Amino acid sequence: MKTILSGIQPSGSLTLGNYIGALQHFVRLQHEANCHFCIVDHHAITVPKTIENLKHNIRSLAALYLAVGINPDKATLFVQSDVSAHTELGWIMITHSYMGELERMTQFKDKSKANTSIPAGLLTYPPLMAADILLYQTTHVPVGDDQKQHLELTRDLAERMNAKYGEIFVIPEPMIAEFGSRIMSLDDPTTKMSKSNPNEGSFISILDEPKVIEKKIKRAVTDSDNEIRFDAENKPAISNLLTIYAAMTDQSMAEVEKHFSGKGYGALKGELAEAVIERMSPIQEKYHYYLQSTELDSILKHGAVKASITANETLAKVKKAIGLGI
Ligand code: AMP
Ligand code: TRP
Repeated sequence: MKTILSGIQPSGSLTLGNYIGALQHFVRLQHEANCHFCIVDHHAITVPKTIENLKHNIRSLAALYLAVGINPDKATLFVQSDVSAHTELGWIMITHSYMGELERMTQFKDKSKANTSIPAGLLTYPPLMAADILLYQTTHVPVGDDQKQHLELTRDLAERMNAKYGEIFVIPEPMIAEFGSRIMSLDDPTTKMSKSNPNEGSFISILDEPKVIEKKIKRAVTDSDNEIRFDAENKPAISNLLTIYAAMTDQSMAEVEKHFSGKGYGALKGELAEAVIERMSPIQEKYHYYLQSTELDSILKHGAVKASITANETLAKVKKAIGLGI
């Protein structure tokens, strides 16, 4: 049986990109694997946060995980900072990382570009992510395309430590879907859809109201001719809209292309808005229910207790192997 771990940062409302590239897969995978889903709050503080925002975003993300269909009886859902083994193994992973390989990470380069004083945590973010994964002897990591490089580093670190200390870690495989692992911005199909984009028209939030969803899709850029077909290279805008439509309606790209053959961009946008609203509405309803409930807190507490058992076992094994402690 596969062992799965994935994490999402509690840093604002999630987008359709997060849903299609990550959450939707998590829901399916929980039925076929031993799944761990983590709210990576230590990663979120690598860029400054206000206390109230951080607190809200942690609960909000937990409510979203549940609202999209994560079942706490099947998967372990927990907050990273509730399981202290993450930062402890994170430190050990940092000490086995090289400055050069961390400085090469494109996410570090992108995120530090905007800063004159770069938080050190931005540089040491990937070895902490490696710890998240390796603590559970994870075999597979479902993520969007942007995390590929971090996973390669995780594998390098695990192999480096296994070579030095013996087989302490399972080497994890990335699970990156062929379709939907890189949903693009609505205003610019050459950049990734991201919740941190200052232009709100560039992304659809899972929690956007129907009118907002309609408006954003209506304003989405299109390509020059009026033909609807999937061609990521020559028709990036329409291909992105088709990918979102396929994910929202659980159809293959061939089915979607057939459905829209002979129709115009107006029809595509209208049907897409309807499909997104139809998929998001029940999620939004459940989200508001969970956000208010105390059930949410007990699910997270229970998740942390369960996660700690495996995490502490791995941590003890690693500490012993490298000669730490008494
Ligand atoms: P983050 O919001 O950066 O913590 O990302 C959480 C998960 O969503 C990761 O697995 C990302 O790879 C995935 N993700 C984020 N943005 C996108 C996107 N535009 N398309 C597909 N997957 C994404
Ligand atoms: N770095 C990931 C992101 O920004 C979040 C993350 C942290 C993660 N730890 C993880 C993803 C472990 C997968 C597995 O999206």
